[in-house]
Amino acid sequence: MKKMIVFTLAIVLCLFLFDIFLGKNPAQRSLDFMPDMVISAAFKAESPNPYFLNGQTQQNPVPGSIARGFKPLNFGASIEESVRAGKELTNPFNSQNEPDLERGKKMYKIYCQVCHGAGGEGNGPVSLRGYPPPPSLLLDNARKMKDGQIFHIISNGYKNMPSYGSQIVQQDRWVTVSYIRKLQETQP
Ligand code: HEC
Repeated sequence: MKKMIVFTLAIVLCLFLFDIFLGKNPAQRSLDFMPDMVISAAFKAESPNPYFLNGQTQQNPVPGSIARGFKPLNFGASIEESVRAGKELTNPFNSQNEPDLERGKKMYKIYCQVCHGAGGEGNGPVSLRGYPPPPSLLLDNARKMKDGQIFHIISNGYKNMPSYGSQIVQQDRWVTVSYIRKLQETQP
């Protein structure tokens, strides 16, 4: 019986000592016994890599690959191409759907209002301080443009207007077009 008690106490003492020496920081892995493949030789994305011919870890996508959810647009940046886009592209969003219009309004306020003005008249703060003012989006010219052409203008820019293709994803460009249509409807 005495032996049992000494033995149990010895085990408890051992556990106690293990706890003190191995478990100093609960956020850190303590002892790895035979780690084998647990710790692999992973390279950081931007670090050099001796195993690839071009010496970099991050490889370029295979030519012709298309990112998921991204639709390639085969249009040049010219005005003729914007007219062609107007004929060939249709707005996939219902222009009367409130949540889409809300999203379009948000995009318009962030990206377009600074030049085109809150109501689309071309009197945004940037235009009033020296940037070539755009024509009003409420005039016939913009009204007659097809949705696809305005989508192309946002994607590629238009004469004095810079491109917003890299800032606004395709769905958001379409809902912005819907919102411009709404502005045109409500402000004759
Ligand atoms: C930096 C200022 C600026 C911003 C921001 C801007 N535009 Fe423009 N936009 C212009 C200018 C300037 C023109 C006129 C281009 C020209 O004729 O030289 C223009 C022209 C246009 C036209 C053609 C209007 C017509 O009747 O010819 C449309 C449509 C248009 N912009 C839509 C947009 C949309 C949508 C956004 C937001 C995604 C936007 N613009 C953001 C400056 C801007």
